[in-house]
Amino acid sequence: MANASGFLTPSISVNPNFKKIIRCSSSSSQGVDSFTPVESRVSRLVGKGCKLVGCGSALPHLQITNDDLSKIVDTNDEWISARTGIRNRRILTGNESLTGLATEAARKALEMADVEADDVDLILLCTSTPEDLFGGAPQIQKALGCKGNPLSFDITAACSGFVLGLVSASCYIRGGGFKNVLVIGADSLSRYVDWTDRGTCILFGDAAGAVLVQACDIEQDGLFGFDLHSDGDGNRHLNAGIKENETDHDLGTNGSAHAFPPNGSSYSCIKMNGTEVFRFAVGVVPQTIEASLANAGLNRSDIDWLLLHQANQRILDGVATRLEIPKDRVISNLANYGNTSAASIPLALDEAVRSGKVKQGQTIATAGFGAGLTWGSAILRWG
Ligand code: ACO
Repeated sequence: MANASGFLTPSISVNPNFKKIIRCSSSSSQGVDSFTPVESRVSRLVGKGCKLVGCGSALPHLQITNDDLSKIVDTNDEWISARTGIRNRRILTGNESLTGLATEAARKALEMADVEADDVDLILLCTSTPEDLFGGAPQIQKALGCKGNPLSFDITAACSGFVLGLVSASCYIRGGGFKNVLVIGADSLSRYVDWTDRGTCILFGDAAGAVLVQACDIEQDGLFGFDLHSDGDGNRHLNAGIKENETDHDLGTNGSAHAFPPNGSSYSCIKMNGTEVFRFAVGVVPQTIEASLANAGLNRSDIDWLLLHQANQRILDGVATRLEIPKDRVISNLANYGNTSAASIPLALDEAVRSGKVKQGQTIATAGFGAGLTWGSAILRWG
């Protein structure tokens, strides 16, 4: 298989030794009450390529403008627009849920791909804000009504989540025999924002986006190269850690039982050193895209569209300048939605595809970066 600095050439994917040892089993049970071993629905396909055949997105209804924010923190539209490019964002409210948004985005992707929910054999939910501590993907499986109970699980990597999900989908298809993989990026960081902190609350919005990645003949393979990284030391610049409490300390230091049981836990709000994260992004994103291009055997001039995680317009511009990619080749929609974390890339892709901007067969360089720290990129073809 490929390493993290991925170079998935046909020769690697069709390794004959790997073919002999592959074992696939993806299906969940048919419900706890009727738990019996079931035959895997996944045939033993290996040496396959993968391509993106559908996309979709969904947004909450409530729109919050920069002027709205200026009523709750000391900021203004001019500062936010000039420093970030963001003008509006959508925020989950009322009966809306992240699971609902993710399901809607996934349905639209299936519809575009002309694939039935029953034919999905893997659902990857890329999110850092699931509505269940144990993960949200199985709830999307249920909401979509996938009869075969396909394997469904979450991937947590903040704003890099969608790129990691995309690469994971390709690995499951190429080496695991999966045929139709839903990759959903969905986040509701508004639930973890400190709405009194003007340095962070102006940045984030909620959304969901999805793509259907499908197995195809190796000759039609549409994921040309990728490159993925993490740096735990950078966590100090961007985090939303578990809240510490005294009880946990007592138990941890002397093991005494008097402070047992521990208090319930929750997460603190997002803490970010914006300047450090900005520097990090503008530094590593051009590097990772260059690495993916090299893995794909392509050049900058082969890129039709640069589709970065939508964090800050100045980051998009800085990366494009370093890669010498003209501004009219850079996809940007963050003015309307802000930073929607794992949702931002599939949301922007969906808008660009549905508006006719991105066309079948075009090459996209995409990159995610954010908390962890994590970052990574992929060079892919649409359709
Ligand atoms: N309104 C008005 N003034 C503000 C605001 C605001 N909302 N926020 C900060 N300021 C002030 C500061 O107090 C400071 O004032 P001072 O000079 O008097 O001290 C001044 O503006 C400059 O502040 P900086 O923080 O240096 O502003 P900067 O230009 O760096 O912009 C920003 C801040 C927008 C956060 C930027 O650093 C950024 O976008 N960083 C990257 C964030 C990012 O990309 N995150 C991605 C990952 S998110 C994830 O993974 C979950």
